[in-house]
Amino acid sequence: MPVNVRPATSQRREQDDQTHGNRATYIVPLDVLKWRLARKTTVGRALAAARQRLKEAGCETARLDAEVLLAHTLGVSRTWLYAHPERELLPDEVARFESLVVRRAQHEPIAYLVGHKSFYGLDFVVDRRVLIPRPETEILVERAIEALSWFRSHNDDAGIARKVRVADVGTGCGAIAVTLAVECPEVYVYATDISQDALDVAAQNVWRYGVGDRVTLLQGDLLTPIPEPVEMIIANLPYVPESDWATLAPDIRQYEPRLALDGGPDGLALIDRLLTQAPSWLLPQGVILLEIGHDQGEVVRQKALHHFPWARVDVIRDYADLDRIVRIVT
Ligand SMILES: C[S@@+](CC[C@H](N)C(=O)[O-])C[C@H]1O[C@@H](n2cnc3c(N)ncnc32)[C@H](O)[C@@H]1O
Repeated sequence: MPVNVRPATSQRREQDDQTHGNRATYIVPLDVLKWRLARKTTVGRALAAARQRLKEAGCETARLDAEVLLAHTLGVSRTWLYAHPERELLPDEVARFESLVVRRAQHEPIAYLVGHKSFYGLDFVVDRRVLIPRPETEILVERAIEALSWFRSHNDDAGIARKVRVADVGTGCGAIAVTLAVECPEVYVYATDISQDALDVAAQNVWRYGVGDRVTLLQGDLLTPIPEPVEMIIANLPYVPESDWATLAPDIRQYEPRLALDGGPDGLALIDRLLTQAPSWLLPQGVILLEIGHDQGEVVRQKALHHFPWARVDVIRDYADLDRIVRIVT
């Protein structure tokens, strides 16, 4: 869940903070809401106008965003748009595209606007009830698959690949749980989340990939709803320090669930509690993989050693050479 931290812009809007129920006041510039295309317009002209509007609104990927939103509106690919610049838009297509561009100009993330996000080659349904899965979390999944291959190579007495139980803690849209179930047929995942709203989204993704017989969704705090010990615990829990909240990009701060991001005063409240619970839930010769913030490697490593003094604990860095994962092998 790496998040871009950059200064808040003057962009403001009025919305409910749906996660915490507290009402924050933002002022939406009127021109953002009033933006309109010509009634008779073509693909090429609509793209150019939207690109311009999104650029003015400070969207760094204005061209790409305009293309993705128009392709989504028309149910076509982005390449198709370039092959059909003269195609006239129907009135309802104009209205739907305008509405998406206006929302994007207010920094609503593209994934929420189109309702899905690609992760590890799969496509996940997402909406404002869940964090949008990040590419960096794919590294966590890669490391999990690598560790699972070790379990696979240790068959049971009859030579049959043994069932491996995994706990995905704070599953959100289910990206980690579903990907592991799709990639590793011997894996059974207990996927927990404190948010029933998030689990409702995860259920759609579990159903979509037909892994309901191997992914069990459980509502509750961290590991507590899991009925038996597991071989692996994997978690991308909130790790943004409370004090960084105001500095998050508006796309994140105004739209993604605070419950999915806010890790308390030092960012480590949830990870701390998970490490305290973990010894009671992890089987011997187990593995824990935790996604962490870019500067949290050493402190989380020390906490891990406190709870698992006999374990091998290492910090894995991401492609930007930042701390990203703490791996505990017991
Ligand atoms: C950073 S999001 C990760 C979502 C998903 N695993 C991913 O990687 O995209 C953290 C998730 O942890 C959940 N969460 C927060 N506090 C929790 C708790 N005490 N117990 C279980 N889940 C919790 C949030 O609701 C959110 O879905």
